[in-house]
Amino acid sequence: MTLDTGNVFHRVLDRPLPQAVRSQGVWIETADGRRFLDASGGAVVVNVGHGRKEIAAAVAEQLGTLTYVHPTMFTSPPLEELARLLSTHTPRGLNRFYFMSSGSEAVETAIKFARQVHLARGDTDRHLLISRWNSYHGLTMGALAAAGRTPFRLPFYPMLRDAVHLPAPYCLRCSYGLAFPSCRLRCALAIEETIRCLGAGAVSAFIGETVGGASIAVLPPPPGYWPLVREICDRYGVLLILDEVMCGMGRTGKWFAAEHYGTTPDILVLGKGLSGGTVALSAIAVREEHLEAVRRTAGNFAHGGTFSHNVIASAAGLAAVRLLERERLVERASALGTRLGARLKEELSEHPQVGDIRGLGMMWGIEFVKDRQTLTPFPRSEKLTERLWQHLFDHGVITYKSVGMAAGEGDGLIVAPPFVITEEEIEQVISGLKAALEAVLGS
Ligand SMILES: Cc1ncc(COP(=O)(O)O)c(C=O)c1O
Repeated sequence: MTLDTGNVFHRVLDRPLPQAVRSQGVWIETADGRRFLDASGGAVVVNVGHGRKEIAAAVAEQLGTLTYVHPTMFTSPPLEELARLLSTHTPRGLNRFYFMSSGSEAVETAIKFARQVHLARGDTDRHLLISRWNSYHGLTMGALAAAGRTPFRLPFYPMLRDAVHLPAPYCLRCSYGLAFPSCRLRCALAIEETIRCLGAGAVSAFIGETVGGASIAVLPPPPGYWPLVREICDRYGVLLILDEVMCGMGRTGKWFAAEHYGTTPDILVLGKGLSGGTVALSAIAVREEHLEAVRRTAGNFAHGGTFSHNVIASAAGLAAVRLLERERLVERASALGTRLGARLKEELSEHPQVGDIRGLGMMWGIEFVKDRQTLTPFPRSEKLTERLWQHLFDHGVITYKSVGMAAGEGDGLIVAPPFVITEEEIEQVISGLKAALEAVLGS
């Protein structure tokens, strides 16, 4: 336990953290001998499983061969091979990759690249970004401006160059009071209206998580949403950025969530599972013609970073992508993820405080409500999610918290384990969830 001891400025300041010392498969062990079933892969990060020797070996080999070279001075074999291999999986046309370290940085990179593509085309007025509420794109200032997560934004409002936020395609609590499909996707049509109101020539890009994640307890959009958004963006010359930092790299049972919706963005943002959740690695994937336009006019993309296009991170990423391929882990995420979703629904959907269970592949969210009929949320002050999460954690099951989806109120938990989880381990997660509901809510 480390509260008030040691020199680390921890992420949480209200409780001591157990010290993790080892991890393997879906299990994390602590110094005091406890074992935790990591049913969320941390923050929906670990996809290929903990403790993969193949990644360790690739990184060790790389560290002994070539460590650091500056990205403006050299390229390297793992960097070239990672980009080549990724291009065999990304949606058609997205075949050039710019690597960074965190998801937030990759989002910043995407926003800046979109702007520079417009500049390259002589469209110099295009600078505005449209995004959605109940979204998450990271916490650096540009990514935070895009994100629709109020508690993180409030302290920094005066400092943000804010995006224009629209409602998410959140059918359970439709902002327009409509129902799918008779709504005719009002939430997507609002994007067109907003582009026109802002001035079509002033909008640079629309950004959204292909499948909503941390700020909405997982949200696959209704059918037709992304194709309609794509159509609207095309009509007004607005670039479409799909943030797949959480839902990419096999998480939804396809290599990239955009495949579920037959939609190809202009810029795809990746992170988290890109390195299997080992070394910090993120990327944007862009179209050749956009890169070429920037090269032709500006000479280069005005961006960079000491650890961009990093050799060691690339080696980790390459090993992770090879594991996904060799062990057919994306197919496994689809098959076993379907089972996970079915079992969650079988065992929990009748619970009086479970309002919705949604997801796809190995990415599921449970939204809790005070009243199932009215969908009234618990007041945030009751901290239901935190209490459920803590009970689960104390009993050795790790989930990921998601709160505030109901206009600031609202509680949810995300279940998104490494793809190597077994059916037996899935049952342990379900038992843990049922026990937590029983203990915290008494039913
Ligand atoms: C969709 C999405 N985008 C961006 C980010 C930011 O990534 P990072 O925390 O690596 O900066 C996250 C992190 O959870 C995310 O879920």
